[in-house]
Amino acid sequence: MKLEGKIAIVTGAGKGIGREAALAIAEEGATVVAVARTQADLDETVKMIEEKGGKAVSLSRDLTDGQQVQSMVDAVVGKYGRIDILVNNAGGYPSEIYDKVKKQAIKIWEWSEAQWDQIIKTNLRIPFLCINKVVPVMIKQGGGNIVSVSSRMGRIASQMGAYAVAKGGIITLTKTTAIQTQEYGIKVNAVSPGIVDTPGQRVYNHNVGQDDIKMGSAQDVAKAILYLLCDSPAVMTGQSIDLFTTV
Ligand SMILES: NC(=O)c1ccc[n+]([C@@H]2O[C@H](COP(=O)([O-])OP(=O)(O)OC[C@H]3O[C@@H](n4cnc5c(N)ncnc54)[C@H](OP(=O)(O)O)[C@@H]3O)[C@@H](O)[C@H]2O)c1
Repeated sequence: MKLEGKIAIVTGAGKGIGREAALAIAEEGATVVAVARTQADLDETVKMIEEKGGKAVSLSRDLTDGQQVQSMVDAVVGKYGRIDILVNNAGGYPSEIYDKVKKQAIKIWEWSEAQWDQIIKTNLRIPFLCINKVVPVMIKQGGGNIVSVSSRMGRIASQMGAYAVAKGGIITLTKTTAIQTQEYGIKVNAVSPGIVDTPGQRVYNHNVGQDDIKMGSAQDVAKAILYLLCDSPAVMTGQSIDLFTTV
C-alpha cells in the first residue's frame, strides 16, 4: 500500500488508460477521484475499484472548460483538504475529426482551423488547465506528484498533425512545470505510450482501416504511471518515459 492516505485525481478515468491507472492507484491505497464527462463510465470505474476494496468517487466535468476544472479542484479540496496526485490522462482524437477525413494522415495544409483548435483543446489545454489549477494546492500543502499522458506521437516525426503537436507540447509542459515546482516538493513527469488497446483507440483503428494492428495493454501504461508515483527517485522530475507498446 504505497499510496495509503493519498488523494489522487485521475482525468479521463471513465475508460481506457485512465480507468486502468485509477484501478492501479486505488489498489495502492489512494482514494481516487475519477473525472471525465460521461457519468455512466465513471460509475463503472468507481464500481470496479470498490469491488476490489478500494476507495473512489467520481466527478463529471468537461475539462476543456477552466471553470469546470476549477470546480473539480474546489470539490476535491472541499471534501479531502488536499490533492496529492494528478494523473493528467484525459485526451484523445475526437471522432468528429476522422469521421470527416477518413484517413490517418491529414496533411498540415488540409487541417481546418476548427479541427486544429479542437485537437489542441482536448490534448494540450486540458493538461495545462489541470496543472494550472492543481499546482497552487500542491504548493500550499508542500508537495505533490503529477504524471501526464503524452504519446510516442509527440516524440517522433509523426503524420498526426495537431495531435502530435499537442502531445509534444505535453512533454514541454512537463519539463517547464517540473523546473518551476521542484522547490515546492512537486514531481512532474510524463509517459509516452505507443498504440494501446483502449475503447478510444479501437474506434480510431476502425475509422482509419487498421483494425488488425497490434496494440499494447493499458495495464502496462498504468504500471509505468504507478512507477512514477511510487518508486521513481525524488530527483526524477521533468522526464518522459517512452513506452513502446506497439509490437
Ligand atoms: N490508446 C492509445 O493508443 C494511446 C497512445 C498514446 C497516448 N494516448 C493518450 O492516452 C490518454 C487516454 O487515451 P485512451 O486511449 O485511454 O482514450 P479513451 O479510451 O478514448 O478514453 C479517454 C478518456 O478521456 C476522457 N475525456 C476526453 N475528453 C474529455 C474532456 N473534454 N473532459 C473530461 N474528460 C475527457 C473520456 O471521457 P468522456 O468522453 O466521457 O469525457 C475518457 O474517459 C489520451 O490522452 C490519449 O491521447 C493513448
